[in-house]
Amino acid sequence: MTRIAYLAGDGVGPEVLAVARHVLDAAGFEAEWVELPVGWAEWCRSGDALPASTLEAVRASDAILFGAITSKGPREAERDLPARLQGRGLRYASPILRLRQELDLRVNVRPIRSLARNHSNLSGDVDLVLFRENTEDVYAGIEAHPFPAELREAWARATDAKVPAAGSDTAVTLRVVTRAATRRVVEAAFEFARANGRRRVTLLEKANVMRATGGLVQEVFRDVAARFPALEAEELNIDAACARVVRQPSHFDVVVATNLFGDIFSDIAAEVAGGLPLAASANLGTRHALFEPVHGSAPDIAGRGIANPLGAVQAAALLARDVGQPRIADRIEAAIHRLIEAGGALPKDMGGDASTSEVEAALLAALETPLLRSPAPAPT
Ligand code: NAI
Ligand code: MG
Repeated sequence: MTRIAYLAGDGVGPEVLAVARHVLDAAGFEAEWVELPVGWAEWCRSGDALPASTLEAVRASDAILFGAITSKGPREAERDLPARLQGRGLRYASPILRLRQELDLRVNVRPIRSLARNHSNLSGDVDLVLFRENTEDVYAGIEAHPFPAELREAWARATDAKVPAAGSDTAVTLRVVTRAATRRVVEAAFEFARANGRRRVTLLEKANVMRATGGLVQEVFRDVAARFPALEAEELNIDAACARVVRQPSHFDVVVATNLFGDIFSDIAAEVAGGLPLAASANLGTRHALFEPVHGSAPDIAGRGIANPLGAVQAAALLARDVGQPRIADRIEAAIHRLIEAGGALPKDMGGDASTSEVEAALLAALETPLLRSPAPAPT
Protein backbone atom coordinates (compact mmCIF):
# COMPACT_ATOMS: atom_id res chain seq x y z
CA MET A 1 0.00 0.00 0.00
CA THR A 2 1.24 3.48 -0.86
CA ARG A 3 2.36 5.28 2.28
CA ILE A 4 1.78 9.03 2.35
CA ALA A 5 3.38 11.31 4.94
CA TYR A 6 0.91 14.04 5.90
CA LEU A 7 2.65 17.22 7.13
CA ALA A 8 0.01 19.89 7.66
CA GLY A 9 2.20 22.49 9.40
CA ASP A 10 0.98 25.89 10.59
CA GLY A 11 -1.64 28.54 9.89
CA VAL A 12 -3.91 27.66 7.00
CA GLY A 13 -1.77 24.54 6.30
CA PRO A 14 -3.98 22.17 8.35
CA GLU A 15 -7.17 23.86 7.06
CA VAL A 16 -6.37 23.36 3.39
CA LEU A 17 -4.61 20.02 3.73
CA ALA A 18 -7.64 18.45 5.41
CA VAL A 19 -9.69 19.33 2.33
CA ALA A 20 -7.04 17.83 0.03
CA ARG A 21 -7.13 14.63 2.04
CA HIS A 22 -10.94 14.39 2.03
CA VAL A 23 -11.01 14.96 -1.72
CA LEU A 24 -8.38 12.24 -2.27
CA ASP A 25 -10.36 9.83 -0.09
CA ALA A 26 -13.62 10.62 -1.88
CA ALA A 27 -11.95 10.16 -5.28
CA GLY A 28 -10.94 6.63 -4.27
CA PHE A 29 -7.25 7.26 -3.62
CA GLU A 30 -5.71 4.27 -1.87
CA ALA A 31 -3.08 4.98 0.72
CA GLU A 32 -1.93 4.53 4.26
CA TRP A 33 -1.60 7.99 5.85
CA VAL A 34 1.05 8.91 8.42
CA GLU A 35 0.42 12.24 10.18
CA LEU A 36 3.58 13.97 11.37
CA PRO A 37 4.36 17.18 13.28
CA VAL A 38 6.33 19.93 11.54
CA GLY A 39 6.65 23.71 11.64
CA TRP A 40 6.54 26.67 13.98
CA ALA A 41 4.11 25.08 16.45
CA GLU A 42 6.45 22.11 16.73
CA TRP A 43 9.42 24.46 17.24
CA CYS A 44 7.53 26.18 20.05
CA ARG A 45 6.82 22.79 21.65
CA SER A 46 10.08 20.88 21.20
CA GLY A 47 12.70 23.30 19.88
CA ASP A 48 12.90 21.44 16.57
CA ALA A 49 10.67 22.42 13.64
CA LEU A 50 11.54 19.17 11.86
CA PRO A 51 11.98 16.50 14.54
CA ALA A 52 14.21 13.52 13.75
CA SER A 53 11.21 11.21 14.15
CA THR A 54 9.32 13.14 11.46
CA LEU A 55 12.30 13.04 9.13
CA GLU A 56 12.69 9.31 9.65
CA ALA A 57 9.01 8.60 8.93
CA VAL A 58 9.11 10.87 5.90
CA ARG A 59 12.07 8.92 4.52
CA ALA A 60 10.07 5.71 4.84
CA SER A 61 7.09 7.12 2.92
CA ASP A 62 6.34 6.95 -0.81
CA ALA A 63 5.34 10.58 -1.07
CA ILE A 64 4.71 13.61 1.13
CA LEU A 65 1.71 15.91 1.19
CA PHE A 66 2.81 19.19 2.79
CA GLY A 67 0.63 22.13 3.89
CA ALA A 68 2.55 25.25 4.85
CA ILE A 69 4.76 26.37 7.71
CA THR A 70 5.39 29.68 9.42
CA SER A 71 8.97 30.96 9.60
CA LYS A 72 10.15 33.90 11.68
CA GLY A 73 13.46 35.56 12.51
CA PRO A 74 15.97 34.32 15.11
CA ARG A 75 14.82 36.72 17.85
CA GLU A 76 11.20 35.63 17.66
CA ALA A 77 12.32 32.02 17.44
CA GLU A 78 14.18 32.29 20.75
CA ARG A 79 11.32 34.22 22.39
CA ASP A 80 8.68 31.65 21.42
CA LEU A 81 10.59 28.71 22.89
CA PRO A 82 9.42 27.31 26.23
CA ALA A 83 11.54 28.66 29.13
CA ARG A 84 13.29 25.31 29.64
CA LEU A 85 14.65 25.44 26.05
CA GLN A 86 15.69 29.10 25.97
CA GLY A 87 19.37 30.11 26.10
CA ARG A 88 20.54 26.72 24.80
CA GLY A 89 21.61 28.04 21.44
CA LEU A 90 18.84 26.22 19.54
CA ARG A 91 18.50 27.59 16.01
CA TYR A 92 15.31 27.65 13.98
CA ALA A 93 15.72 26.35 10.43
CA SER A 94 12.86 26.36 7.92
CA PRO A 95 11.63 22.75 7.74
CA ILE A 96 10.55 23.02 4.11
CA LEU A 97 14.05 24.14 3.11
CA ARG A 98 15.54 21.40 5.27
CA LEU A 99 13.25 18.77 3.74
CA ARG A 100 14.28 19.85 0.25
CA GLN A 101 17.93 19.51 1.20
CA GLU A 102 17.74 16.38 3.40
CA LEU A 103 15.65 14.45 0.87
CA ASP A 104 17.57 15.88 -2.08
CA LEU A 105 14.38 17.23 -3.64
CA ARG A 106 16.42 18.90 -6.31
CA VAL A 107 13.78 19.93 -8.81
CA ASN A 108 10.69 21.99 -8.08
CA VAL A 109 8.05 21.71 -10.80
CA ARG A 110 5.23 24.24 -10.90
CA PRO A 111 2.61 23.86 -13.59
CA ILE A 112 0.87 27.23 -13.99
CA ARG A 113 -2.24 27.36 -16.12
CA SER A 114 -5.20 29.70 -16.19
CA LEU A 115 -8.39 27.68 -15.84
CA ALA A 116 -11.31 28.40 -18.13
CA ARG A 117 -13.91 30.87 -16.89
CA ASN A 118 -12.02 31.71 -13.72
CA HIS A 119 -12.95 35.30 -12.88
CA SER A 120 -9.78 35.80 -10.89
CA ASN A 121 -7.61 35.21 -13.99
CA LEU A 122 -5.67 38.28 -15.03
CA SER A 123 -5.07 36.46 -18.29
CA GLY A 124 -6.83 33.45 -19.78
CA ASP A 125 -3.85 32.11 -21.66
CA VAL A 126 -1.17 31.10 -19.21
CA ASP A 127 0.03 27.55 -19.76
CA LEU A 128 3.59 27.21 -18.58
CA VAL A 129 5.58 24.73 -16.54
CA LEU A 130 8.36 26.12 -14.38
CA PHE A 131 11.37 24.05 -13.35
CA ARG A 132 13.10 25.64 -10.38
CA GLU A 133 16.38 24.48 -8.85
CA ASN A 134 15.49 23.64 -5.30
CA THR A 135 18.59 23.18 -3.16
CA GLU A 136 21.12 25.95 -3.73
CA ASP A 137 21.47 29.60 -4.88
CA VAL A 138 20.85 32.05 -2.00
CA TYR A 139 18.71 29.38 -0.29
CA ALA A 140 21.77 27.26 0.52
CA GLY A 141 21.88 28.96 3.92
CA ILE A 142 25.53 30.02 3.63
CA GLU A 143 25.41 33.45 5.17
CA ALA A 144 27.00 35.57 7.84
CA HIS A 145 26.02 38.54 9.95
CA PRO A 146 28.28 40.08 11.23
CA PHE A 147 30.59 39.70 8.23
CA PRO A 148 33.71 37.94 9.63
CA ALA A 149 37.08 39.63 9.08
CA GLU A 150 38.75 36.46 7.80
CA LEU A 151 36.05 36.09 5.15
CA ARG A 152 36.43 39.72 4.17
CA GLU A 153 40.16 39.30 3.68
CA ALA A 154 39.72 36.18 1.59
CA TRP A 155 37.20 37.97 -0.60
CA ALA A 156 39.40 41.01 -0.97
CA ARG A 157 42.18 38.74 -2.27
CA ALA A 158 39.85 36.87 -4.62
CA THR A 159 38.14 39.75 -6.38
CA ASP A 160 38.82 43.19 -7.83
CA ALA A 161 35.40 44.35 -6.64
CA LYS A 162 35.16 46.60 -3.59
CA VAL A 163 34.50 44.32 -0.61
CA PRO A 164 32.61 46.03 2.25
CA ALA A 165 33.98 46.28 5.78
CA ALA A 166 33.78 43.33 8.17
CA GLY A 167 31.55 43.66 11.22
CA SER A 168 27.93 44.01 12.16
CA ASP A 169 27.09 46.70 9.59
CA THR A 170 27.57 44.15 6.82
CA ALA A 171 25.72 40.92 6.12
CA VAL A 172 26.47 38.48 3.31
CA THR A 173 24.51 35.66 1.71
CA LEU A 174 26.31 33.46 -0.76
CA ARG A 175 24.75 32.65 -4.13
CA VAL A 176 25.81 29.08 -4.76
CA VAL A 177 25.57 27.49 -8.20
CA THR A 178 27.02 24.08 -8.99
CA ARG A 179 27.24 22.48 -12.39
CA ALA A 180 25.65 19.24 -11.17
CA ALA A 181 22.54 20.78 -9.60
CA THR A 182 22.07 23.13 -12.54
CA ARG A 183 22.41 20.32 -15.03
CA ARG A 184 19.79 18.23 -13.21
CA VAL A 185 17.13 20.93 -13.35
CA VAL A 186 17.94 22.03 -16.91
CA GLU A 187 17.85 18.43 -18.15
CA ALA A 188 14.55 17.85 -16.36
CA ALA A 189 13.08 20.89 -18.13
CA PHE A 190 14.25 19.83 -21.59
CA GLU A 191 13.20 16.22 -21.09
CA PHE A 192 9.77 17.33 -19.92
CA ALA A 193 9.42 19.65 -22.92
CA ARG A 194 10.28 16.87 -25.34
CA ALA A 195 8.04 14.29 -23.68
CA ASN A 196 5.07 16.67 -23.57
CA GLY A 197 5.20 18.20 -27.02
CA ARG A 198 6.31 21.63 -25.78
CA ARG A 199 8.17 23.94 -28.17
CA ARG A 200 10.39 26.22 -26.18
CA VAL A 201 12.52 26.20 -23.03
CA THR A 202 13.31 29.62 -21.56
CA LEU A 203 16.12 30.22 -19.09
CA LEU A 204 15.67 33.08 -16.59
CA GLU A 205 18.99 34.53 -15.42
CA LYS A 206 20.89 37.73 -14.77
CA ALA A 207 24.26 36.77 -16.17
CA ASN A 208 25.07 40.34 -17.18
CA VAL A 209 25.32 41.22 -13.46
CA MET A 210 26.16 37.94 -11.75
CA ARG A 211 28.79 36.88 -14.22
CA ALA A 212 30.22 34.02 -12.18
CA THR A 213 27.04 32.22 -11.11
CA GLY A 214 24.85 33.37 -13.98
CA GLY A 215 27.65 32.55 -16.41
CA LEU A 216 27.88 28.96 -15.18
CA VAL A 217 24.10 28.54 -15.42
CA GLN A 218 24.20 29.85 -19.00
CA GLU A 219 27.04 27.51 -19.92
CA VAL A 220 25.15 24.47 -18.62
CA PHE A 221 21.91 25.60 -20.31
CA ARG A 222 23.66 25.91 -23.69
CA ASP A 223 25.33 22.49 -23.30
CA VAL A 224 22.05 20.77 -22.54
CA ALA A 225 20.11 22.73 -25.18
CA ALA A 226 22.54 21.49 -27.86
CA ARG A 227 21.31 17.94 -27.18
CA PHE A 228 17.69 18.97 -27.90
CA PRO A 229 17.90 20.63 -31.33
CA ALA A 230 14.15 20.23 -31.94
CA LEU A 231 13.39 22.59 -29.04
CA GLU A 232 13.84 26.34 -29.11
CA ALA A 233 16.22 27.42 -26.32
CA GLU A 234 15.74 31.00 -25.19
CA GLU A 235 17.56 33.10 -22.57
CA LEU A 236 15.88 36.04 -20.87
CA ASN A 237 16.94 38.30 -18.05
CA ILE A 238 14.81 37.62 -14.97
CA ASP A 239 13.55 41.21 -14.68
CA ALA A 240 12.49 41.35 -18.33
CA ALA A 241 10.80 37.95 -17.97
CA CYS A 242 8.80 39.11 -14.93
CA ALA A 243 7.53 42.09 -16.91
CA ARG A 244 6.76 39.98 -19.94
CA VAL A 245 4.79 37.31 -18.10
CA VAL A 246 2.37 40.01 -17.00
CA ARG A 247 1.84 41.48 -20.47
CA GLN A 248 2.30 38.41 -22.65
CA PRO A 249 2.05 35.25 -20.55
CA SER A 250 1.35 33.02 -23.56
CA HIS A 251 4.97 33.54 -24.62
CA PHE A 252 6.13 31.17 -21.90
CA ASP A 253 6.10 27.43 -22.37
CA VAL A 254 8.67 25.52 -20.31
CA VAL A 255 10.73 27.77 -18.06
CA VAL A 256 13.86 26.95 -16.04
CA ALA A 257 15.47 29.01 -13.31
CA THR A 258 17.68 29.00 -10.27
CA ASN A 259 16.03 28.97 -6.86
CA LEU A 260 15.27 32.64 -6.07
CA PHE A 261 14.43 33.72 -9.62
CA GLY A 262 12.15 30.70 -9.98
CA ASP A 263 10.43 31.54 -6.70
CA ILE A 264 9.69 35.11 -7.72
CA PHE A 265 8.75 34.39 -11.32
CA SER A 266 6.37 31.59 -10.30
CA ASP A 267 4.49 33.79 -7.83
CA ILE A 268 3.97 36.44 -10.50
CA ALA A 269 2.92 33.89 -13.11
CA ALA A 270 0.57 32.20 -10.62
CA GLU A 271 -1.04 35.54 -9.84
CA VAL A 272 -1.60 36.21 -13.55
CA ALA A 273 -3.13 32.74 -13.83
CA GLY A 274 -5.87 33.24 -11.27
CA GLY A 275 -4.10 33.75 -7.99
CA LEU A 276 -1.38 32.33 -5.80
CA PRO A 277 -3.77 30.29 -3.60
CA LEU A 278 -4.61 28.12 -6.63
CA ALA A 279 -1.03 27.10 -7.41
CA ALA A 280 0.70 23.86 -6.42
CA SER A 281 4.16 22.41 -6.85
CA ALA A 282 5.99 19.10 -6.86
CA ASN A 283 9.42 18.84 -5.24
CA LEU A 284 11.13 15.90 -6.90
CA GLY A 285 14.26 13.95 -6.07
CA THR A 286 15.38 10.55 -7.22
CA ARG A 287 13.93 8.73 -4.19
CA HIS A 288 11.44 11.13 -2.65
CA ALA A 289 8.71 13.50 -3.76
CA LEU A 290 6.90 16.24 -1.84
CA PHE A 291 3.73 18.00 -3.01
CA GLU A 292 2.52 21.32 -1.65
CA PRO A 293 0.44 24.37 -2.39
CA VAL A 294 2.71 27.27 -3.38
CA HIS A 295 1.26 29.66 -0.80
CA GLY A 296 2.50 30.00 2.79
CA SER A 297 0.74 29.71 6.15
CA ALA A 298 -1.26 32.95 5.59
CA PRO A 299 -1.36 34.01 9.28
CA ASP A 300 -3.58 36.99 8.32
CA ILE A 301 -6.51 34.68 7.54
CA ALA A 302 -5.64 31.51 9.50
CA GLY A 303 -8.34 30.15 11.80
CA ARG A 304 -11.17 32.02 10.08
CA GLY A 305 -12.30 29.15 7.87
CA ILE A 306 -11.93 31.17 4.68
CA ALA A 307 -8.68 29.80 3.23
CA ASN A 308 -8.81 28.72 -0.38
CA PRO A 309 -8.10 24.96 -0.42
CA LEU A 310 -7.71 24.66 -4.21
CA GLY A 311 -3.90 24.94 -4.23
CA ALA A 312 -3.69 22.08 -1.74
CA VAL A 313 -6.20 20.08 -3.78
CA GLN A 314 -4.12 20.68 -6.93
CA ALA A 315 -1.10 19.42 -4.96
CA ALA A 316 -3.09 16.31 -4.07
CA ALA A 317 -3.76 15.69 -7.77
CA LEU A 318 -0.05 16.04 -8.59
CA LEU A 319 0.70 13.54 -5.82
CA ALA A 320 -1.88 11.02 -7.03
CA ARG A 321 -0.41 11.17 -10.55
CA ASP A 322 3.13 10.73 -9.23
CA VAL A 323 2.35 7.64 -7.13
CA GLY A 324 0.67 5.90 -10.05
CA GLN A 325 -3.00 6.76 -9.57
CA PRO A 326 -3.52 9.05 -12.61
CA ARG A 327 -7.26 8.38 -12.89
CA ILE A 328 -7.69 9.82 -9.41
CA ALA A 329 -5.67 12.88 -10.44
CA ASP A 330 -7.85 13.33 -13.55
CA ARG A 331 -11.02 13.12 -11.47
CA ILE A 332 -9.78 15.69 -8.97
CA GLU A 333 -8.63 18.12 -11.67
CA ALA A 334 -11.95 17.74 -13.48
CA ALA A 335 -13.79 18.50 -10.23
CA ILE A 336 -11.76 21.71 -9.78
CA HIS A 337 -12.61 22.76 -13.34
CA ARG A 338 -16.31 22.06 -12.78
CA LEU A 339 -16.33 23.99 -9.53
CA ILE A 340 -14.79 27.04 -11.21
CA GLU A 341 -17.00 26.83 -14.28
CA ALA A 342 -20.12 26.52 -12.16
CA GLY A 343 -18.90 29.59 -10.27
CA GLY A 344 -21.09 28.86 -7.24
CA ALA A 345 -18.97 27.96 -4.24
CA LEU A 346 -15.81 29.99 -4.72
CA PRO A 347 -13.62 31.26 -1.88
CA LYS A 348 -13.22 34.93 -1.08
CA ASP A 349 -9.88 35.44 -2.84
CA MET A 350 -11.51 34.21 -6.07
CA GLY A 351 -14.38 36.63 -5.84
CA GLY A 352 -16.88 34.37 -4.07
CA ASP A 353 -18.04 34.15 -0.49
CA ALA A 354 -17.77 30.43 0.24
CA SER A 355 -15.99 29.20 3.35
CA THR A 356 -13.29 26.52 3.16
CA SER A 357 -15.81 23.85 4.12
CA GLU A 358 -18.36 25.06 1.56
CA VAL A 359 -15.68 24.83 -1.14
CA GLU A 360 -14.94 21.31 0.08
CA ALA A 361 -18.60 20.29 -0.09
CA ALA A 362 -18.89 21.68 -3.63
CA LEU A 363 -15.72 19.84 -4.68
CA LEU A 364 -16.99 16.57 -3.25
CA ALA A 365 -20.27 17.06 -5.13
CA ALA A 366 -18.34 17.86 -8.35
CA LEU A 367 -16.37 14.63 -7.91
CA GLU A 368 -19.58 12.65 -8.07
CA THR A 369 -20.14 13.65 -11.69
CA PRO A 370 -18.62 10.86 -13.79
CA LEU A 371 -15.61 11.79 -15.93
CA LEU A 372 -17.11 10.41 -19.10
CA ARG A 373 -20.79 9.97 -19.60
CA SER A 374 -21.55 6.27 -19.71
CA PRO A 375 -23.46 5.13 -22.77
CA ALA A 376 -27.24 5.37 -22.47
CA PRO A 377 -28.69 2.10 -21.22
CA ALA A 378 -30.27 0.00 -23.92
CA PRO A 379 -34.09 0.16 -23.89
CA THR A 380 -35.62 -2.83 -22.27
P1 NAI B 1 1.44 33.63 2.18
O1 NAI B 1 1.40 32.82 0.92
O2 NAI B 1 1.22 32.89 3.44
O3 NAI B 1 0.37 34.81 2.07
C1 NAI B 1 0.40 35.80 1.04
C2 NAI B 1 -1.00 36.37 0.83
O4 NAI B 1 -1.83 35.37 0.19
C3 NAI B 1 -1.71 36.71 2.14
O5 NAI B 1 -2.51 37.85 1.95
C4 NAI B 1 -2.59 35.51 2.39
O6 NAI B 1 -3.77 35.79 3.12
C5 NAI B 1 -2.95 35.06 0.99
N1 NAI B 1 -3.15 33.60 0.95
C6 NAI B 1 -2.18 32.65 1.05
N2 NAI B 1 -2.72 31.42 1.01
C7 NAI B 1 -4.05 31.59 0.87
C8 NAI B 1 -5.16 30.70 0.77
N3 NAI B 1 -4.98 29.36 0.78
N4 NAI B 1 -6.39 31.23 0.64
C9 NAI B 1 -6.58 32.56 0.59
N5 NAI B 1 -5.58 33.45 0.68
C10 NAI B 1 -4.32 32.99 0.83
O7 NAI B 1 2.89 34.33 2.19
P2 NAI B 1 3.55 35.32 3.30
O8 NAI B 1 2.52 36.22 3.84
O9 NAI B 1 4.74 35.86 2.63
O10 NAI B 1 4.10 34.37 4.44
C11 NAI B 1 3.37 33.99 5.59
C12 NAI B 1 4.11 32.88 6.31
O11 NAI B 1 4.18 31.72 5.47
C13 NAI B 1 5.55 33.25 6.66
O12 NAI B 1 5.83 32.75 7.94
C14 NAI B 1 6.37 32.54 5.59
O13 NAI B 1 7.65 32.22 6.04
C15 NAI B 1 5.54 31.29 5.34
N6 NAI B 1 5.70 30.69 4.03
C16 NAI B 1 5.74 29.33 3.95
C17 NAI B 1 5.81 28.68 2.76
C18 NAI B 1 5.78 27.19 2.75
O14 NAI B 1 5.40 26.58 3.73
N7 NAI B 1 6.15 26.53 1.67
C19 NAI B 1 5.86 29.40 1.47
C20 NAI B 1 5.74 30.85 1.63
C21 NAI B 1 5.69 31.44 2.88
MG1 MG C 1 7.17 31.65 -3.01
